[in-house]
Amino acid sequence: VTVYVPADSAALAAGADAVVTALQTGCAQRGLAMALVRNSSRGMFWLEPLVEVATPAGRVAYGPVTPEDVPGLLDAGMLQGGAHALRHGITEQIPFLALQERLTFRRMGVTDPLSLSDYAAHEGWAGLRRAVTLDSAALVHEVTHSGLRGRGGAAFPAGIKWKTVAGAVSVQKYVVCNADEGDSGTYSDRMTMEGDPYMLIEGMTIAALAVGATMGYVYIRSEYPHAVAVMSEAIARATAAGFLGDDVLGSGKRFHLEVRKAAGAYVCGEETAMLESIEGRRGIVRAKPPLPALQGLFGQPTVINNVITFASVPIIFARGADFYRGYGMGRSHGTLPFQLGGDIRQGGLVEKAFGLTLRELLYGFGGGTRSGRPIKAVQVGGPLGAYVPESQWDVPMDYEAYAAMGAALGHGGIVVHSDKADMAKLARYAMEFCALESCGKCTPCRIGSTRGVEVIDRILVGRHREQQVELLRELCDTMLHGSLCAMGGMTPYPVLSALNHYPEDFGLVPATAA
Ligand code: NAI
Ligand code: SF4
Repeated sequence: VTVYVPADSAALAAGADAVVTALQTGCAQRGLAMALVRNSSRGMFWLEPLVEVATPAGRVAYGPVTPEDVPGLLDAGMLQGGAHALRHGITEQIPFLALQERLTFRRMGVTDPLSLSDYAAHEGWAGLRRAVTLDSAALVHEVTHSGLRGRGGAAFPAGIKWKTVAGAVSVQKYVVCNADEGDSGTYSDRMTMEGDPYMLIEGMTIAALAVGATMGYVYIRSEYPHAVAVMSEAIARATAAGFLGDDVLGSGKRFHLEVRKAAGAYVCGEETAMLESIEGRRGIVRAKPPLPALQGLFGQPTVINNVITFASVPIIFARGADFYRGYGMGRSHGTLPFQLGGDIRQGGLVEKAFGLTLRELLYGFGGGTRSGRPIKAVQVGGPLGAYVPESQWDVPMDYEAYAAMGAALGHGGIVVHSDKADMAKLARYAMEFCALESCGKCTPCRIGSTRGVEVIDRILVGRHREQQVELLRELCDTMLHGSLCAMGGMTPYPVLSALNHYPEDFGLVPATAA
């Protein structure tokens, strides 16, 4: 009987290894045969460690399983899919999964992440096999037509970026994957690298063929040791099997890939600071222009995309741009892997086409708060994203609709706060975070964030409150328009949204009686 226990960071943190030991011991004691596969998490974190058992009807899920549960589960006939309080039925019929539109994450938790044969058996390399038959212009056209936009947060059209690099004349071009996933509450990049690394390799290789790059780097944050290990091994295996290297799939094209471990600075997720870091210097933001697409790594034309952007590419080539474009709404085509976290009952990864609402995510998927308290504010798009109040929870989630209300979908991180949250403290935290993480290159961010903390402190103690609020707004305006990069430029989002939607937390209007 094949039994699946995930081995990615999420499952390991929840104690998956101890469950494996208990399963091995329990099976040995009972004389039961078990073929163990260490898959990756399905993204239903409240059920981790999730143990799945292959049955004729499909995989049956049990979770969250502790080592102490294992003897009882085995005695209840878990290996035959037997009944138990922790049994959730067929994994893929669990509503949290069944209601998703998993395109990029369709293999997540299904396959053994490092198995090349598993990857190939689940549509792996189909995109690359088609890509090697196309020329640069056709490859760029396919990505452009798919409507894919940068999933790191800025939503810049991937096809236009690739076209710029393809059109640049140079003897050396690069492809760099930004895997410095620094946003608190986000983990879709990590899950991809740990759970389906060949998909990222395939997407980057297609990008390299499209623009004529021969060398690529995956810049992974150092806090992701498992992702570094899995990606490194996957690159070695893909190279040995001919999917990377001097002759990609017999096409005569060359593409080599290496992992670069980051050094732990949030700002190194900013693309030009990342380039500085890869080149061996301190991560400081470069002024743009020149765009990295024209003068990027070592001054050469460089495609820089986020993990999820590259990971979206294989299915676009395997099934065609029209297929991908058919998902989503308006100018936001395809799907986004939303990452639910904070005070939420069912936290985890939800891949859906653009256009669903926050309310559907919070209640349809998330099941409301874990604490049982009402939801007060939801931060969408990472620590630099706006706090979205209930009056905006029915706005369809697409890039333009969110921009129109002064918010951003960003990298899809969603952190839920209950009515216990003090929004003024959270606004202060945003300024403090910016002060700590600022690279120091420009004044609005370097100085502004420190002044911002001080101003909010004065508001909180009630000293010249109205005047200080005015000052805070002016400061945010300067940071928004005068900062060199998104670090200082987006810190006002959480600050202003907290101030505008929750003025009572700043002592501005009397709080309503509880
Ligand atoms: P940006 O809007 O300056 O640029 C977006 C991308 O398009 C860049 O790669 C840029 O080089 C490229 N680009 C712009 N014009 C181009 C042209 N004409 N031709 C070719 N390429 C062109 O935004 P930026 O600073 O790269 O990203 C900001 C975003 O990062 C924010 O919206 C935020 O949501 C997100 N972010 C994500 C984090 C994460 O952990 N994923 C962390 C912090 C911020
Ligand atoms: Fe550096 Fe902040 Fe300016 Fe960005 S906004 S360049 S992080 S000082």
